[in-house]
Amino acid sequence: MDPRLKSDVNHANHSIAAKHTDESVAEDNCHKNHKNLNKVSQVGRRVRGVDEQQERQHFYHIVNCFRSYQINGLSRVSKTYRYMDSLPEHHQKLLTNYRNHLQNVCEAIEHNYKIIELIVEDISNLFENIDYTSDGQSCEGVGDGDQALKSQFLKSYTSVDSDKVNSIFKQLVREWTDQGFNERKTCFEPILTEIDTYFKDWKDKSAVHVLVPGAGLGRLPFEIAKRGFSCQGNEYSLFMLFTSNFILNKCKDRYIHTFYPWAQHYTNNVRSADQLTAVRFPDINPGDLPTNSDFSMAAGNFIEIYTEVEAWECVSTTFFIDTAPNVIDYIETIWNILKPGGIWVNIGPLLWHNSPEFSDNDSIEPSFEIIREIIISFGFEFIKEETNVSSYYTQNPHSMLAYEYHSVFFVCKKPFL
Ligand SMILES: C[S@@+](CC[C@H](N)C(=O)[O-])C[C@H]1O[C@@H](n2cnc3c(N)ncnc32)[C@H](O)[C@@H]1O
Repeated sequence: MDPRLKSDVNHANHSIAAKHTDESVAEDNCHKNHKNLNKVSQVGRRVRGVDEQQERQHFYHIVNCFRSYQINGLSRVSKTYRYMDSLPEHHQKLLTNYRNHLQNVCEAIEHNYKIIELIVEDISNLFENIDYTSDGQSCEGVGDGDQALKSQFLKSYTSVDSDKVNSIFKQLVREWTDQGFNERKTCFEPILTEIDTYFKDWKDKSAVHVLVPGAGLGRLPFEIAKRGFSCQGNEYSLFMLFTSNFILNKCKDRYIHTFYPWAQHYTNNVRSADQLTAVRFPDINPGDLPTNSDFSMAAGNFIEIYTEVEAWECVSTTFFIDTAPNVIDYIETIWNILKPGGIWVNIGPLLWHNSPEFSDNDSIEPSFEIIREIIISFGFEFIKEETNVSSYYTQNPHSMLAYEYHSVFFVCKKPFL
């Protein structure tokens, strides 16, 4: 057990630890608390060469992106109001219902902001051994520390950052609401079925260690842990980590919160009410895990923090491999960390998030055909492979616009030598 990880089973909230003196995976010492087994541990986030001050600034920046949601959202509506005010009077009269609708949008944004306040509440204490108050002093609750964060970095957010908060709301729908059921069925269920089938003869499921890199808000690792497997989700986005911390560690029952995930989706609405659909979350109690479950979330870049060879029986990836600038790094890491006889289960498209279409980063964008050859060249055996698997990602069910992916699904085995 790592003495630096804090566990207090008498308190509802679990602390999160950052382990930055080495890059190994932190142990979950909260696993004895059946009520709330989830602990998001920050593992190896601070890697060699990463400036501590930059990391701290990034943390504050994300806090302020969340905090900018309301002001950006309301400014967007104000701009429309101003334009409407400039229109001919007889046009303005025809827009009475639209004006009323925008008023409701403002109320939805204000309501959503209350959820955001809960997400960033106590966030300075997210990682146990990194002090994220702006002045380096300890920060209790939402008090002075958060105020200091707010004032120091208030000017640094943009509307692009605010869009990222809207994306988090969509991710929340996908992972933790009834409305996300179909997406989870197409994207998570094939993975869960495969893991269940492959490890069905293991008497002790907890001896099967499953890693989920790029875990988003943690629903897939939660579902894997719920089936009795030991599971760790990994994420490097603080947007995701702040929000998964809120869900996994602070939501103590199902349907306890309501939000308006599409409040700022102004396009492709058939009915005005669609933009203001109220959605409840979480659809399941995140504390509802078997006794002595081994479930954790680890923060950090997948290829930097998972360096221990042959440590995992299974790696499962959903909508993840195309986040790599160089996908061979991911394949190589998965090959190295899997035990012989272990499997890699993957589903998703090849959108290539770092391609010039979406970013300024360098990137390679090989087809699945080429990726397949590379996977085999490492020594993997394909034991299952399907193309054209219909799947959706954070789709607004009411929108006139829909993206359907024809994903690839595969299971690769690392053979015994
Ligand atoms: C497209 S999302 C998919 C999320 C989730 N797996 C799902 O299917 O809903 C990809 C996720 O991978 C995370 N990610 C990307 N590169 C990563 C890396 N190198 N290490 C850890 N997480 C990463 C992103 O922050 C993002 O949350």
